[in-house]
Amino acid sequence: MTDPLALVPLPQSVIWSEGAWETQDPWEELSVGVNDELDAAEYTLSISPRGANLAAGSEAALADGRNTFAQIVTGTNGSIPCVTIADRPRYAWRGLHLDVARHFLPIAEIETFIDAMALHRLNVLHLHLTDDQGWRIEIKGYPRLTEIGAWREQTLVGSMDGGAETWRFDGTRHGGYYTAQELEGLVEYARRRGVQIVPEIDLPGHMQAAIASYPELGNVPEQQIGVREVWGISDHVLGVSDVVFDFVRDVLTQVAAIFPGPYVHIGGDECPRGEWERSSAARSRLNEWGLTRFSEIQGRFTRFAAEVLAEHGKRIVGWDEVLETRLPDDTIVMNWREAAGVKRSVRRGFRTIISTHDQTYLNYYQASPAHEPPAIPGPVLSVEDVYTAPLEPPSLTEEQRRLILGVQAQLWSEYLPDAESFQYMAFPRLCALAERAWGSPEQTWEQFEERLRAHLPRLDAFGIRYRPLD
Ligand code: ACM
Repeated sequence: MTDPLALVPLPQSVIWSEGAWETQDPWEELSVGVNDELDAAEYTLSISPRGANLAAGSEAALADGRNTFAQIVTGTNGSIPCVTIADRPRYAWRGLHLDVARHFLPIAEIETFIDAMALHRLNVLHLHLTDDQGWRIEIKGYPRLTEIGAWREQTLVGSMDGGAETWRFDGTRHGGYYTAQELEGLVEYARRRGVQIVPEIDLPGHMQAAIASYPELGNVPEQQIGVREVWGISDHVLGVSDVVFDFVRDVLTQVAAIFPGPYVHIGGDECPRGEWERSSAARSRLNEWGLTRFSEIQGRFTRFAAEVLAEHGKRIVGWDEVLETRLPDDTIVMNWREAAGVKRSVRRGFRTIISTHDQTYLNYYQASPAHEPPAIPGPVLSVEDVYTAPLEPPSLTEEQRRLILGVQAQLWSEYLPDAESFQYMAFPRLCALAERAWGSPEQTWEQFEERLRAHLPRLDAFGIRYRPLD
């Protein structure tokens, strides 16, 4: 008999072998499969002393059901509760964003996150693969992206706030990148756990690492800059020559081939325009394109990226700054700035993901900074804050609400130097956001907290180093 539940991300301590618990007699009954009579998003799972039955309306819902099974058996010691569950998620997009550009995470550590996502029925891993401080994806024909762009010689220690004269550096080279083959393996690893990977190539800003690799991609081709060693936003943005647009085409074409999913994130956040304003080449381009404002250059990049990706059957996702220009109707907007932006985006008819920073940025402090490892300055966002955050703005019409595709947690990694610090910031807040994204019946924080305490042994079973509850 094949092992239809073998794909559940079980920790080492739980052994599932040929459809039976190793310690028990084989189950008499075991059925797993898609059942067209169920809604696409729905699954039903029943576990009885005789066996388990899992039916789902689609492959995606089947993955949700398997992951529920994993949650039930993880942390048990040989005995499994008998349950009957009929369930479906509130949101189709239940995401986690990992910034692997500011600090590189080895593939095995991303896999641990994918296991944890599956356990929490999160289904989209958004990988932020490029930024000013590092380029993390092999692109054929552009070897310097990974020879040069994937490495920075040193990294700022502590905060930037005191100004350049106070900055201190660690003197340690940092970096790394993923080959196309490794990423293909990761895509498959994630797929088997019901997780889709959405890659991000952040453009036209946040491109200093690429411009350090190939100065002709910038606005001052004769200037050799380095990969950025401090945080904040670089002034160095993509130039406007044909070489640059060819580069964007080549990168997105290869990204589209590596990641089979329907979405590619093209960034679009925080793009300063100063270099374009000072560039005679950018001014001529603006005239040639019949545009008047330098800000419209960004729209040119966004639409170009969308066209290239559409040729490969993909849609773009962008941070909410992309709304500042004309967009293809099928663009998905990721709202990260103020909460009111969600409403603006759905009012314009765009499918929208709630990534609002003060509700979903798990890189913010989770308790008073005096007792926590250094983090990006910002609001304190405790696990209770995440559980009780409003997420959807009030007074949406039914039609607008339907455009809210989902919710996503963000982990920006300026202050997360290793996997342990990524995990410490993610958990247990991600458990709270996952619950919100799944949309379980309303509960008080106290009720959730009690269940969260009972859930923590599952994180232990996966070796996840979470922040203890207060
Ligand atoms: C962002 O936080 N710059 C999307």
